[in-house]
Amino acid sequence: MTGRCLSMRQFRARGGNISQQEAKSLSDDQIRQIKLDIHDMPEYYGMPLSVIRENSTLNFDLFVKVSDQFKKVLTRSGAVTKNFLDALRSADHESVYTPYEQSGAALEYKESQLDSVIRDPEIEMDEKSEVIYSTATDIAEELFNSPITADNINRTRSVVRPMLESVLADYTTVESLIAVSSYDYYTYTHSVDVSIYSIGLGQALGLERNSMERLAEAAILHDVGKSQIDIAIVNKPGRLTSEEFEAMKMHPVFAYEILRHNGLSDMVILEAVRDHHEKLNGTGYPKGKPADQISQLARIIAIADIFNALTTRRSYKEALTTFDALKIMRDHMEGELDKELLKAFIYMMAGKHKGA
Ligand SMILES: [Fe+2]
Repeated sequence: MTGRCLSMRQFRARGGNISQQEAKSLSDDQIRQIKLDIHDMPEYYGMPLSVIRENSTLNFDLFVKVSDQFKKVLTRSGAVTKNFLDALRSADHESVYTPYEQSGAALEYKESQLDSVIRDPEIEMDEKSEVIYSTATDIAEELFNSPITADNINRTRSVVRPMLESVLADYTTVESLIAVSSYDYYTYTHSVDVSIYSIGLGQALGLERNSMERLAEAAILHDVGKSQIDIAIVNKPGRLTSEEFEAMKMHPVFAYEILRHNGLSDMVILEAVRDHHEKLNGTGYPKGKPADQISQLARIIAIADIFNALTTRRSYKEALTTFDALKIMRDHMEGELDKELLKAFIYMMAGKHKGA
């Protein structure tokens, strides 16, 4: 990230995450203006109040917003009581905040409360989706922005679990997660989005739980190899030169190596990651493998990957609509993608699959 670009966590800290759903009702000029305004806002990391759980202890200061001013309501180490939460609810506070420098502790807290949030029948699905999505993208962002370690890889693997559990419990969660997903492309939002679409497609196909878990983990980690590629190439606004593209083609191999060296030994996951740019007609990379050597999980991730890349906005290209993206994939990528899987994906995106 350079210049005026904000990281997703900073962007969200300023209340600026534009979702796919919101983007539909805003013009490009309005979106640009929101982004400019957000640069001038103080940095506070916001969370829905529902994330703060009764009888828990916070390792960060808690603030609420009162007429555009942040007011401290609980000092770090303070216990969260029922009375405290009731008071915030009755004052109609839907969000709580912590200063950006304490957002690491807030993220750890949010991560630890995720299961309890998901199981709470009082919390609406859209709010749960927002909590799941923001936690997953914040953790993926840390993975890409810090030195890669076994710990942060495991943390990223774990964060797909709540996502998977929610979809397995109620298939319509996929739609809700897609609605809150990011309209702009960042490597870490892309990683989470690819897991959402992969989980959706896997579930539509009726994959077994074990395969679903591997699929979700491979999907969120599929681009981790980009951390080894020159950042100027990864973030280049526009077409890569053939030399740059050759360098970029190494990222699936790097991902395979990074994961293996950090203790991930499941070959099904490793191969799905390494083969996500292989094409059925043998024109993909890194190996140019023929169809019979490309696993079903790699084929699913390839579809989710391309679809999300087409439907998100980058500095040099607009986002395509779902319809246009699917049309391109169907009409212009024949021979590259698995036809049956693509058909199932198109059905899923048309809302024709309502759960296995
Ligand atoms: Fe990739």
